[in-house]
Amino acid sequence: MFTSKKSRTFQIISNIFHLIHSQITSHPRISLFIFSLLLVQILIFCSPSPPPPTVSLPPSLYDKCNEGKVYVYELPTMFNSDLVGTCDDLDPWHWQCGVATNGGYGLIATELAGIVPENLLQVWHRTNQFSSEIIFHNRILKHKCRTMEPESATVFYIPFYAGLAVGKYLFADSTNEERDFHAVKLIEWVQMQPYWRRSNGSDHVIVLGRITWDFRRLTDPGKRWGSTFLNMPEMQTVTRLSIERAPGDDHDVGIPYPTGFHPRSIADIEAWQNFVRNYNRTSLFTFVGAARDDVGDDIRGLLLRTCRNESLSGTCRVVDCAVTPCANGSSAIMESLLGSEFCLQPRGDSFTRRSVFDCMIAGAVPVLFWTRTMYDQYEWYLPEEPESYSVFIDHDDVSAGKKSIKEVLENCSKEDVKKMRERVIEIIPKIVYSDDNGGMKDAFEIAVDGVMRRFKAESDQRRQESEVNVPVN
Ligand SMILES: *[C@@H]1O[C@H](CO)[C@@H](O)[C@H](O)[C@H]1NC(C)=O
Ligand SMILES: *[C@@H]1O[C@H](CO)[C@@H](O)[C@H](O)[C@H]1NC(C)=O
Ligand SMILES: *[C@@H]1O[C@H](CO)[C@@H](O)[C@H](O)[C@H]1NC(C)=O
Ligand SMILES: *[C@@H]1O[C@H](CO)[C@@H](O)[C@H](O)[C@H]1NC(C)=O
Ligand SMILES: *[C@@H]1O[C@H](CO)[C@@H](O)[C@H](O)[C@H]1NC(C)=O
Repeated sequence: MFTSKKSRTFQIISNIFHLIHSQITSHPRISLFIFSLLLVQILIFCSPSPPPPTVSLPPSLYDKCNEGKVYVYELPTMFNSDLVGTCDDLDPWHWQCGVATNGGYGLIATELAGIVPENLLQVWHRTNQFSSEIIFHNRILKHKCRTMEPESATVFYIPFYAGLAVGKYLFADSTNEERDFHAVKLIEWVQMQPYWRRSNGSDHVIVLGRITWDFRRLTDPGKRWGSTFLNMPEMQTVTRLSIERAPGDDHDVGIPYPTGFHPRSIADIEAWQNFVRNYNRTSLFTFVGAARDDVGDDIRGLLLRTCRNESLSGTCRVVDCAVTPCANGSSAIMESLLGSEFCLQPRGDSFTRRSVFDCMIAGAVPVLFWTRTMYDQYEWYLPEEPESYSVFIDHDDVSAGKKSIKEVLENCSKEDVKKMRERVIEIIPKIVYSDDNGGMKDAFEIAVDGVMRRFKAESDQRRQESEVNVPVN
């Protein structure tokens, strides 16, 4: 009974992705899209280029909040805290009671004892992959550039847990009205606020704990999924931070999935970087995932079979999520990622996967099959040269049997793999959510910085335009 419901849900999701895909390819952006695909395909893999120089603001400028200040709305509790803590009716596969503890970081992952260094066991949590709206809310309240006076703010943060609001209806028989209830009320609420009216929301930001497609319900009743929050006209000007963005919508910004690693200090990060750098990786690659034969374009079944076959010789480590509860985080996943040079990252129910981030934090080099899984998503976080930290094998070449994953990966020299791993290790501090109240430039700080710069640039431009008195239109 459960299985048939599950497969129906995935059929719906799959249909939605086909529709989205066909919409995208019928768009004039197609040439650019194809061009970028081609570009990625002709990249010579396993020849990492040297890292570009990184530009950073002098700390003095950064500390003075020169980029602006953020005002956090105090919403009625129905929009956030009331949505936390109702365990029973949330997504049964991905949610675990207690995830909202520790500011969204979850309980300590005691199951990792003996696998991660003992002095770092306290920084490993059972973090839910959909908890970023809780994490960001907790962190922004403590941010050094938070202001209590809206008139001095350049950024307005709306702490609405939109993912939790819709999450409890996604896997249940529910009406459109139920799915949209909180979103509709939220829009009514913000429209009463003077600072919203001043800008129509264009200096407002929200964090969505789930992928953007969960808030873009299609009108076709057969493809009914999620809420219509992001289809609402009022939301078109609002910047949204989300673990999966819609390509082509500049108001969507991709942020890393929360993983279980929450370092307290630079010293924690460095200790972990050394640990993964020196780990004795005895397998070439690993695959953590489940096969779903009812999803179109599913190469996961193929990858699972390949990996299982290669596991006989120790070349691949397989963690079959149909058997191991993967969403929960587990010692088997951690051991596989640490023990392998590469990790296979096919698309899942959507293009992105939390596993990409689990993989990189464990110091394994991700192998991508769709560009949208990573390269088109996390612009603020990843270097521009994908080949410097990952390997791309087109999914069509894999399903057509034109390329053997093992051969492609074995083709990378030890030196190349080492260079790629170093790039991955350099990325780690940027994709973690730290537990230090803001001293580190972690995923959260990078997001806040990015939003402030974006809004400041927009307001500077508006001011310039009004000074020169350029008529609009
Ligand atoms: C906000 O939107 C309303 C309705 O679309 C429009 O009349 C108004 O001019 C807008 N205000 C600003 C500041 O853009
Ligand atoms: C790595 O593990 C392999 C297999 O267990 C073992 O033979 C080898 O000695 C180990 N290497 C190091 C440097 O520990
Ligand atoms: C299974 O592995 C063996 C040995 O590595 C290989 O020769 C064979 O082609 C593999 N079969 C499949 C279906 O991958
Ligand atoms: C998640 O992991 C914890 C600890 O390993 C376990 O007690 C719990 O039952 C697991 N939950 C699920 C849904 O598998
Ligand atoms: C291995 O690398 C060589 C040289 O870079 C390339 O010509 C060849 O196609 C590669 N083989 C595979 C299976 O990727």
